[in-house]
Amino acid sequence: MKGEPLSSVQQHADGQSIVGTSVITLDDLTVTQIEELLHKAQYIDSHRKEVAHTCDGRVLATLFYEPSTRTRLSFETAMLRLGGKVIGFAGSQLSSATKGESISDTLKTVSNYVDVVAIRHPKEGAALVAADASSVPVINAGDGGHMHPTQTLADLATLQSRFGRVNGLTIGLCGDLTFGRTVHSLIETLCRFGNVRFVLISPKELRTPQYVLNRINATPTCSYEEVTDLSTVIGDLDALYMTRVQKERFFNEDDYLRLRDTYILDEGKLAKAKPTMAVLHPLPRVNEIATEVDVDPRAAYFEQVKNGMLMRMALESSVLGDELPGYEQYANQEVEA
Ligand code: CP
Repeated sequence: MKGEPLSSVQQHADGQSIVGTSVITLDDLTVTQIEELLHKAQYIDSHRKEVAHTCDGRVLATLFYEPSTRTRLSFETAMLRLGGKVIGFAGSQLSSATKGESISDTLKTVSNYVDVVAIRHPKEGAALVAADASSVPVINAGDGGHMHPTQTLADLATLQSRFGRVNGLTIGLCGDLTFGRTVHSLIETLCRFGNVRFVLISPKELRTPQYVLNRINATPTCSYEEVTDLSTVIGDLDALYMTRVQKERFFNEDDYLRLRDTYILDEGKLAKAKPTMAVLHPLPRVNEIATEVDVDPRAAYFEQVKNGMLMRMALESSVLGDELPGYEQYANQEVEA
């Protein structure tokens, strides 16, 4: 993770701790706390050995009721790289959910075993139910089409790395803006930072939900336009956030097949983009970014993957109250500099 360091004066300003906090949406954290996580992730990236025992003796549970590659493995890798251990399940088929156990009872059980839980579930609101039942912090790793806060942390870290800031940008979001929970989390969080122009690019069937548009409307320094054509707006964008059409959330397969390849970003379309534009994607991709784009310097989506792990390291250690060795001194030096 590169980019200009965040102001540690700012990040220490509110003095609030997130120890013991469940993170269901990023509204559970202040902007200052999010900035501190970004700052910690920068520190972790350049101090891997120093932080390797930060969470010695801790145990993370990953309860994934829905498929995942990046989120589960990065939550787990993050804890292992901090010195902790991991338990959990990937798919609920072998858990007691198949016998009818409720999420609440599962969390009342698992929170006896571990220090922190990451949960992914296909139902919106499931992570909140889990947090209410748990005696340890719960982190939402994606609840249906609702929110995916730690993906947003990865997205913010990538914008920070590419531009030295997360706002003052024109950001295009393209594809399935109805079911794409990462889009909803990202827009809502960027509105809190303010000063962002959103270009919402989708077929009319997959428009951004009204509750997300309301959030932009309620933010005086942010604005949006909705368009259906990527090529007419790509030249205006500082960042383009591509998304997969979320097959698993469609009720009708014909609709999915009709809409899935609406947008395919290739080098031809990128020729009209700024040379500094960053292409983000939460992944997995299907067809929406041609593989030829992977070697274009504007492709930032595999940086996002790495940033996701670093941000989860910052978040896990922070909700546990485990201080990163050397971090305070590093932060104070920046205040003095
Ligand atoms: N970005 C993301 O959530 O990927 P996974 O579904 O592989 O976890």
